[in-house]
Amino acid sequence: MTPEQAAKPSPEKAKGKILIVEDDEGMRFFLSEALAKEGYYFQTAKSGEEAFKLFSQEAFDLVVLDYNLPGMNGMETFAKIRDRVPDMVVILITAFGSKDLAIEAMEQGVFDYFNKPLEIGELRVVIRRGLERAFMQREVCQLRSQLEADYGFGRILGSSKAIYDVIERVRKVADSDVSVLIRGESGTGKELVAQALYAHSQRNKGPFIKVNCAAVPQELMEAEFFGYEKGAFTGAHKQKLGKFELANGGTLFLDEIGDMPLATQMKILRVVQENELERVGGEVSIPVEFRLITATHRDLEKAVAEGEFREDLFYRLNVVSITLPPLRNRREDIPILMKHFMGLYNEKFKKNLKGFSSDAMESFLNYSWPGNVRELENIIQRCIVLSYDKIMENKELLEIYPLLSGSFREVPASASLQNKLEGLVSDAEEKLILEALNEENWKRQETADRLGISRKSLHNKMKKYGLH
Ligand SMILES: Nc1ncnc2c1ncn2[C@@H]1O[C@H](COP(=O)(O)OP(=O)(O)OP(=O)(O)O)[C@@H](O)[C@H]1O
Ligand SMILES: [Mg+2]
Repeated sequence: MTPEQAAKPSPEKAKGKILIVEDDEGMRFFLSEALAKEGYYFQTAKSGEEAFKLFSQEAFDLVVLDYNLPGMNGMETFAKIRDRVPDMVVILITAFGSKDLAIEAMEQGVFDYFNKPLEIGELRVVIRRGLERAFMQREVCQLRSQLEADYGFGRILGSSKAIYDVIERVRKVADSDVSVLIRGESGTGKELVAQALYAHSQRNKGPFIKVNCAAVPQELMEAEFFGYEKGAFTGAHKQKLGKFELANGGTLFLDEIGDMPLATQMKILRVVQENELERVGGEVSIPVEFRLITATHRDLEKAVAEGEFREDLFYRLNVVSITLPPLRNRREDIPILMKHFMGLYNEKFKKNLKGFSSDAMESFLNYSWPGNVRELENIIQRCIVLSYDKIMENKELLEIYPLLSGSFREVPASASLQNKLEGLVSDAEEKLILEALNEENWKRQETADRLGISRKSLHNKMKKYGLH
């Protein structure tokens, strides 16, 4: 009997689908028999090339890959598998005594390895663990796309009205090609919005070039933005293109634009207005064309008033602005974000934090979030690194991140309490009006009567809430 004929369950009934890549017939037989006995479905290939053929015909959960193959060796085959399916779980079989190779392979991302001769008990355990990993990855992937389908836009997640408005705006302006200024406190997701704008624009095949204006020292700004010619200054050994030129035909994202010194602001404005630049030490004007997206956590109007930011540049940048609300004003988003980051970091750190107890959840919901989503992300990351497979209690949470304890809770200023109240009232009013409209088949007079308000006032309120 050849290995290919060993009895095996059908792919639908199997506990996992495995591809065996092994040129040695005896070994193939041993593996096939062992896997079939465990209830796995498998296919066999004698070389990397053959493995690829099978790969394009059916889906596998795991690959058992021999290192010594004719043609492409195991690691070359592995690299190609990764190109096609980046998180494929691969187990490598190495010759006896090649420990260095095995370690190197693990560093490259191979899940585990066996030494020949194979020991059946070990084989079983490693395959089972490998499949668990594969299934968990798939679950995380599904969870993520489910989250995205339910709440959010691309990678911007949330279920609050506030984030919904942001997403609507991103959607509307993404492919309009106008300059967009993204505003918001630190960690609110400004960069994420910049990426979403790019990804949903017509320029998404072109370059996306990011410059963090706060991180470039002033004396290097010009070289960074405009590039330079060979010999322009000591140390300019060869020509270098600046960020403006690199962004040509694409999108330029200037992060922390509020931190740009006045002298540089003037030079930037010129490029933005005239669509051309000269490299440092260069003679000719080079035409450039890009979409400009900028972001800042600073109050630019104030900076303009204080003479720290050029007014003309401000108007150029601020054709459309998108303001990200702080997390403390949209607490409904907290659970979704927590779930998202738990999926992300459980997978990354190979952990399985299952969730938080209800009083721990309260701590998350009551906190003031000065560092916004980034702070939330950091906390979840820490909890996952420091935890086991379980639900985390509040006590442990506060040990990991004492700031979350109630005593640090921000006392809402009366103004923000007022805002909150207004928000609640508006939400309730909108809901009432919508219900009444639906019940009266959107007949204005009947709806107004039902609500006990005038027709005109109904009209105004419908306008306010965008009800048509
Ligand atoms: N609505 C969201 N959904 C999912 N992830 C988010 C959301 N908002 C922010 N994040 C994540 O939070 C982290 C911080 O976001 P980002 O870097 O975009 O913030 P930022 O406003 O640019 O912050 P900073 O001002 O500190 O540079 C990132 O890892 C980002 O992916
Ligand atoms: Mg940022």
